[in-house]
Amino acid sequence: MLVHSCRSRENSLFHEELDELADQFPGLRTHRRFTGEQGRLDLSTSADIEALCPDWRRRAAYACGPAAFLDDAEALFDREADGGLRMERFSVDLAGGVAGAGGLVTFEGSDLEVEADGDVPLLEVAEEAGVDAPSGCRMGICHACLTPLRSGQVTDLRTGEVHGEPGDLVQTCVSAAAGPVGLSL
Ligand code: FES
Repeated sequence: MLVHSCRSRENSLFHEELDELADQFPGLRTHRRFTGEQGRLDLSTSADIEALCPDWRRRAAYACGPAAFLDDAEALFDREADGGLRMERFSVDLAGGVAGAGGLVTFEGSDLEVEADGDVPLLEVAEEAGVDAPSGCRMGICHACLTPLRSGQVTDLRTGEVHGEPGDLVQTCVSAAAGPVGLSL
């Protein structure tokens, strides 16, 4: 069972291809939800998913979508279905960790110093300062932002862990200054 939700038929990616797949494979059912007409799929209760797929509790499930939708899905599966849910998230909760003290960030390669708050990712601090910093997902997954730490320590904004030794590679998108920090950028 594949459920795809988007605003309108015009916004529906791979609409015809999915229809073709459903024609080709009798075991595949598809359901398109156009939120402009039908409203959003609501997973804060089991009513919507129950109507679409009555035996959902016994199935493996894969979900991707906005954070609030995934939060509801996670809670629903935890509550009612022994957790058979796999999710792909495109955002990260940086409020999970306890923000540290912040401090003076030295971008050694750029010969720049900036005062940074303890809850602001070093990637943002670099960009604000006009420092050319590598990045990708901006949520701690791709590791494109890995940058050598020259001195000091950083706070992992997802967990609150303070860590770092000179020479370590730090993910600037999810790390903030925990006191004075030197980066190679
Ligand atoms: S930009 Fe992807 S992990 Fe930092």
